[in-house]
Amino acid sequence: MDKPQIIQLPKIVDPRGNLSFFEFPKQIPFAMQRVYWIYDVPGGEIRGSHAFKEQNEFIVALSGSFDVILHNGIEELKFSLNRSYYGLYIPKMLWRKLENFSTNALALIASDCKYNDQDYIRDFDTFLSYKK
Ligand code: TYD
Repeated sequence: MDKPQIIQLPKIVDPRGNLSFFEFPKQIPFAMQRVYWIYDVPGGEIRGSHAFKEQNEFIVALSGSFDVILHNGIEELKFSLNRSYYGLYIPKMLWRKLENFSTNALALIASDCKYNDQDYIRDFDTFLSYKK
């Protein structure tokens, strides 16, 4: 999968409360090595604004809402995440930022790589030159 895409997740509806999940390889196309989450984001703040050379990700809005803005080197793509029963798969080498966080937004990010600062491309012009 070399394109970003929304992946619908199972939703086990139950009067006691609903339950969703994802696992490799049924729902997401990579084996997870790391999970992290972004929360308590002050209004108007932007997270991300970088690309990864090798890391693939899957992002779910576990609570609240936010937008994921992607750039593939040619055009920008916007995905609004606001439900906990779907997520956005983001393959490597896409510029991405998270913005427009609602109050109490909780972004869960699953990754197929351990944290590695060397995997980040933090300059947009450098990203564009990699894409050419
Ligand atoms: P970073 O990915 O740069 O966040 P953002 O792009 O939203 O600003 O991460 C911020 C800091 O957190 C960075 O200095 C390193 C640290 N960090 C870890 O130590 N482990 C992790 O898994 C992540 C995602 C970040």
